[in-house]
Amino acid sequence: MCGIVGYIGKQNAIPISLDGLKRLEYRGYDSAGMALFDSQKNKIICVKVAGKVDSLEERFRNSNIFSNCAIAHTRWATHGIPSIKNAHPHNDCKKNIYLVHNGIIENYKFLKEKLKEEGHKFYSDTDTEILAHLIEKFFSGNLEEAVVQALKLVKGTYGLAVISKNDPGKIVAARNSSPLLIGLGRDEFIIASDPSAVVSYTKKVVYLEDGEVAVITPEDFSITNLRQRKIIRPHVNLKWDFEEATKAGFPHFMLKEIFEIPETIQNSTRGRLIFDEGLAKLGGLELVLDELRGISRMVICACGTAYLASLAGEYMIEEYAGLPTEVEYASEFRYRKPILNQNTAFLAVSQSGETADTLAALREAKRKGILSLGVVNTVGSSVARETDAGVYNHAGPEIGVASTKAFVSQLTVFALFALLLGRQRQLSSVMGQRIAKEISALPEKVKEILKLNSQIRNLAKKYRDYNHFLYLGRKYNYPIALEGALKLKEISYIHAEGYGAGEMKHGPIALIDKNFPTFAIALSDSVYEKMFSNIMEIKAREGRVIVLATNGNNEIKKMVDDVIYVPKTLEMLSPILAVVPLQLFAYHIGVLRGCDIDKPRNLAKSVTVE
Ligand code: F6R
Repeated sequence: MCGIVGYIGKQNAIPISLDGLKRLEYRGYDSAGMALFDSQKNKIICVKVAGKVDSLEERFRNSNIFSNCAIAHTRWATHGIPSIKNAHPHNDCKKNIYLVHNGIIENYKFLKEKLKEEGHKFYSDTDTEILAHLIEKFFSGNLEEAVVQALKLVKGTYGLAVISKNDPGKIVAARNSSPLLIGLGRDEFIIASDPSAVVSYTKKVVYLEDGEVAVITPEDFSITNLRQRKIIRPHVNLKWDFEEATKAGFPHFMLKEIFEIPETIQNSTRGRLIFDEGLAKLGGLELVLDELRGISRMVICACGTAYLASLAGEYMIEEYAGLPTEVEYASEFRYRKPILNQNTAFLAVSQSGETADTLAALREAKRKGILSLGVVNTVGSSVARETDAGVYNHAGPEIGVASTKAFVSQLTVFALFALLLGRQRQLSSVMGQRIAKEISALPEKVKEILKLNSQIRNLAKKYRDYNHFLYLGRKYNYPIALEGALKLKEISYIHAEGYGAGEMKHGPIALIDKNFPTFAIALSDSVYEKMFSNIMEIKAREGRVIVLATNGNNEIKKMVDDVIYVPKTLEMLSPILAVVPLQLFAYHIGVLRGCDIDKPRNLAKSVTVE
C-alpha cells in the first residue's frame, strides 16, 4: 500500500528518501516518485516512474543534484491506473506546490468539478491531485495556512506531505486516519508513513494524531491541530532493530519469518504465564480486569489472516472461558447494525494496526461506548492507540506481505487471553496449569516441524503443477484449513478453497477428481474420526490427499497419498502447530512456480483503504 518518506536537513535528501522508499517496498506498490528542492537552482524537480523504486533510483544515478528537502512516495493504485501521470507527487497548475498522499479523498469528484469551474487544470486521474489545487487556491505566502484551509474542505483519509517553491525550507505534513510520523535527528528530520523507513537513521519518533498538521524545517518542527492550537508531544523510542528487518541469509522474508516462529511464540508469551497458578498475566489488560470479569459477550473484528486467527480464538475463548464470542469481518461489521450492549467487549485484531476496515469497526464500537480492546503487533499503530486496552503480539516486524509469524503470534495471544478470561471464570487452576505448560512447550514443537522443511519442499515439487486445491479441517483446525488455502492463493496464485470438512458433502465434493488434490488436517483429536471419514470419501472419488497427522498415527499412512506428521499438543493449541507445514507448503510451491514470494502481485502488507 502507499508509502510516504520526506527528508529535510543538512544531508542530501535524495539518497535518504530513496533508501526510505526501499524500506517501504514490502508494503506493496506499483509506481514511485520524488519531488525535491534543487538547492543550487532554487527550483523544485519532480521525477516519477511507473514501476519499482530501483527505476526511480536509476533516474538519479548520474545526477549531481543536491537537495536538502524532498518528499517521496510509493503508490498503490486506487483512483486511476498505475502510470507516471498518476504517480505521486502531484502538483498544482503552476507547478509551485507538490504533495504526496496516502489515503482516499472521498469528495474529490465534487471538489474537482468546482476547481475546474474556477479554472484549475488537472493532469491525473487521482483523487490526490485535488489537494494540490485546493492548496494552490488558498496559498498566499504561507504553506501551512493554505494546507489547513484546504483540509477543512476535504472528506476522507490522508497522510500528507507538501512542499512549495514559494514558501521554501519546510515540509508541511498532516494526518487523518493514515499514519505519519516524524523521525528526529540532529538538525534533520525524516517523515514517513511507517517506522521501518526511518529506523536506520533514528529511533526517536513523534507520531502525528488525526487532525494534526506539522511544519518541519531543518532546525525544528511544530504540530498544531486544524483549529491551529499548538500541540506538544514527546517523542517515543522505536524498539525495532534494523537487523530485524533484513533477511538474515534466508532467500525470502517469508521463509525467515516462518523460521522465526519458535522465537515469536517465546516473545509473545515472555513474562505472561504464571505456571504455579495456571494464570496468564497481560500487562496491557491490567487496568480493565474488573470490566473483563463483568462482560457477558465479546465481538471480535478483523480482516484476512487476522480474521482467521480470531476464528480459532473464538473457539478457545468459548471452550475455556465459557464467554459467548462472535467473530466478524470488520468490513461487514462497520456497515451493518451491530447489536452491542454495555456487557459486550469489542476486540480488534490486526498485525499492522492500520487496516482501514478494522480501524473503522473499532471506531464504530467506540461510538457505542463499549469497552474496546486490541491484539496488535505494530507498537504505536492506530488500533493500539485508539483502543481502551490491549495486548501486543511482540512478533517483531513482519516484512513478507503474507502473514506467517504474526498469525502464529495472534493465535498464541488468543491462547493467553482464553486462559486469562477462563481463570476469571470457571477454569480450574489444574487446567490452567496444563494450558500454561503446553503453551511453553510449543516453541520446541515448532522447531521439530521446521526440520520437515525439505520433506515439505519435496511434496511441493510433487504437487506444484496442480491448479486447484481443497483444504479441509474441523473444529480448531477449520480456520487453519481456511488459512492454508489463503496462503496458497496468495503465494502461488493457485486456486485454493478452504472448507470445514463437514461442509464438503454440501457442495465442494463435486469438484473432487484426480486433478483436484486435498490437504486435510486430521490430527488425533476429538474430531479425528469424522475427518478420517471425509478423507475416505475423497479417496473413493480418486482424489489425491495430503494429510497433516499427529506423530504416531500409522493407520493414516496406508490410506492416503502423503502424510506430514506434527507433534501432539492440546487440541486448543493445535492450530499453532498445524499452520506451520501449511505455510511452508505454500512457500515452496510459490518458489517452484517462480512467484514473487515477499511481494505477491496486487497485495499490500497494510490495507489502509477499505
Ligand atoms: C494475509 C494477510 C492479510 C492480513 C489482512 C489484515 O497473509 O496478511 O490477509 O491479515 O490484510 O491485516 P492486519 O492484520 O494488518 O490488520
